[in-house]
Amino acid sequence: MASITIRNLDDEVKDLLRQLAAENGCSMEEQARAMIRAAVEGRAGQADRIDQIEKTLRALTGSGQQATPASAGSGKLSVRGTLSDRRILLIIGGGIAAYKALDLIRRLRERGASVRVVMTGAAQEFVTTLSVGALSSDHVFTDLFDRNDEHDVGHIRLSREADLLVVAPATADLMAKLANGHANDLASTVLLATNKKVLMAPAMNPKMWSHPATRRNRAALQKDGIAFVGPARGEMAESNEAGEGRMAEPLEIVAAIEAMLDEKPKPLSGRRIIVTSGPTHEPIDPVRYITNRSSGKQGHAIAAALAKLGADVRLVSGPVNIADPAGVTTTHVETAAEMKDAVENLLPADAAVFVAAVADWRTASAAGEKIKKVAGEGPPSLKMVENPDILAGVGHHIKRPGLVVGFAAETQDLISNAEAKLRKKGADFIVANDVSHESGIGPSGVMGGDRNKVRIVSRTGVEEWPEMGKDEVAARLAELIAERLQTVVV
Ligand code: CTP
Repeated sequence: MASITIRNLDDEVKDLLRQLAAENGCSMEEQARAMIRAAVEGRAGQADRIDQIEKTLRALTGSGQQATPASAGSGKLSVRGTLSDRRILLIIGGGIAAYKALDLIRRLRERGASVRVVMTGAAQEFVTTLSVGALSSDHVFTDLFDRNDEHDVGHIRLSREADLLVVAPATADLMAKLANGHANDLASTVLLATNKKVLMAPAMNPKMWSHPATRRNRAALQKDGIAFVGPARGEMAESNEAGEGRMAEPLEIVAAIEAMLDEKPKPLSGRRIIVTSGPTHEPIDPVRYITNRSSGKQGHAIAAALAKLGADVRLVSGPVNIADPAGVTTTHVETAAEMKDAVENLLPADAAVFVAAVADWRTASAAGEKIKKVAGEGPPSLKMVENPDILAGVGHHIKRPGLVVGFAAETQDLISNAEAKLRKKGADFIVANDVSHESGIGPSGVMGGDRNKVRIVSRTGVEEWPEMGKDEVAARLAELIAERLQTVVV
């Protein structure tokens, strides 16, 4: 089916679509498709417009029932049923990212979930209950003490009649309230009264996110078992503001929800796995540093794939421009020395996967002030010293994990170099990337790109994998790690 770009339509048409979509409890795109089909079939008369659209929606969804808001609410507009019959209670906090919650509702319902929504007072300043109600096809809950509300089901029932509570956007205020047990409005009361899992998708200004109070609250919530997805780094709605604090994209939140509600037995449940990812930055002076082209895509994908198989993943990431993977606890570091400390603090673990492209050298001592050009003196000479080898340290550590996996990016003698690293660093296997130009992907293709071609080099031999997307490499590697851990004595 061709896609319809609603924002390219005239305002008048958009208004009509919005109104009809609200009446029918479907998205504007679904409404537009229904109307186009009605027009093609010559049935677009004004008088029986709603009836025709209902019939069209019924035909589109293949359901034998009326496509009323109620039937739409029970998931009849589902296109992929990964969340069939799942009940999500979505709490929308007050922030500019609240508009993304509208798309989140749509994505959840497309997958068969029913979505009930609680909005805080502040959230209603950003999006209206009308649009939220139109998309969720349900009453929107806003007040704690609304006894006259015929839809009032009470905060206890609201919090219990769900399979999962999702807070998106989770503001600094909502996080602080739950971390400290406050319950002075419907959203905070529902969160405190629930006996279900809770997922938070924080969104706030980077300064608020990095404030020690928010960091304390996040740590307390994580300790209480609250799961987090995001935030990502990037531009903020406020001009000239950038940093960590953007709400995760709706599809990332959906993936985190699917993972939390997935009850299939998982081969890595109960296993703690450390993953390093990204480059390191080794400072020369306060404004300059030495680094490499690593994007962190492969390491982050591996962390996410291991978490999908049920592992308790501890990711130690150098500076990258991608979001923390959902369902993974991430520690951010800058230098190799910080990465080494972070990794060693996470021991003991069942397995450790070293994907980071750690800088091999750092300056003997970084200048405290910016190094200035001095006429006639030429460029400064930098004295370099070797960084600690984190993989080798863990490979020979007294608390060595049962399974240690390294990476090796080589441009020549791939196998013999990988075998030498395997022995020297005490790894169980090395994932070797061919980054030579002859490989067809090349150094700039692998480092920063989305594809990878690897060989698994172990003491028992070499296994060659075809070229794949980094997500596929990650999924296959996670399965291999799960298999190996079943036979490893820890
Ligand atoms: N590694 C590490 N700490 C370092 C250097 C590398 O943990 N200081 C890890 C990487 O994460 C990777 C493996 O060691 O898993 C191999 O990294 P690579 O850079 O290929 O190897 P080096 O030992 O640095 O060898 P060379 O650069 O000479 O190829």
